[in-house]
Amino acid sequence: MMQVSLDVPQSDVARVRDALGGPARVAVVLGSGLSGLADDAADAVAVPYAELEGFPRVGAVAGHAGRLVAGTVAGERVLLFQGRAHLYQGVRALDAAYPARLAAAVGCEVLVVTNAAGGVREDLRPGDLVLISDHLNLMGANPLVGWPGPEGGFPFVPMRDAYDPELRALMRETADGLGIGLSDGVYAGLLGPSYETPAEVRMLRSLGADVVGMSTVPEVIAARALGMRVVGLSLVTNAAAGVGLSHEEVLEAGRQAAERMKRLASAFIERLARIA
Ligand code: HPA
Repeated sequence: MMQVSLDVPQSDVARVRDALGGPARVAVVLGSGLSGLADDAADAVAVPYAELEGFPRVGAVAGHAGRLVAGTVAGERVLLFQGRAHLYQGVRALDAAYPARLAAAVGCEVLVVTNAAGGVREDLRPGDLVLISDHLNLMGANPLVGWPGPEGGFPFVPMRDAYDPELRALMRETADGLGIGLSDGVYAGLLGPSYETPAEVRMLRSLGADVVGMSTVPEVIAARALGMRVVGLSLVTNAAAGVGLSHEEVLEAGRQAAERMKRLASAFIERLARIA
């Protein structure tokens, strides 16, 4: 078995530190159609993923911008990833987790993950926001395969409370304060790129999944291995196994609810800065 490292190239660390121009506590990974938070950031410095040595080389998927932005949101310097690499694009889980590894390497302590997801639980509707309480890793992959663990340690990373209870409470308070509805849910991560069959959606329901998507899990596992605290939001773009689902429809539902997600994330960053 090949041994792997969660480290990132020093050139990437230097490039991002330079773009940030100072310390940043929070990194945000923006999923399909959710890039707007980065577009609105002040004093933004963008770095295309293609210019980062360690970022996996994958072709563009519509709705995924493919760059990171160092910017100021709610007065806080933050690191925003516009788009991510997915396992269905043929990358290893270790490489799909690159945003988390890079964020940890530049000193970020909190990772906010966002994604577009299918609703598995029957009451969920397109446009609903879900606060991720836990996940099911059904991707058949793990970014820590081949990782020996931290120096002198073991690779067995605890995943209880991977989605930080305190940060979840803060996200909920923030949503309540803004009058934004927020459901709680378990995120099932699947390999994709095909959507789920109706039988698979029934299986996911019986396993306790509330939403389903093709991302997030690798970066959350890597973030936990690197000691970051994680909070996650899913934007429900469709009912899983919905009739006539297209990638374009997923993006359109994203556009409509992205504004709410953006307000929530920005207010969360502001509150987080206050309790730091
Ligand atoms: N399934 C998996 N991933 C998704 C879906 C879905 O229905 N919608 C958006 N991402």
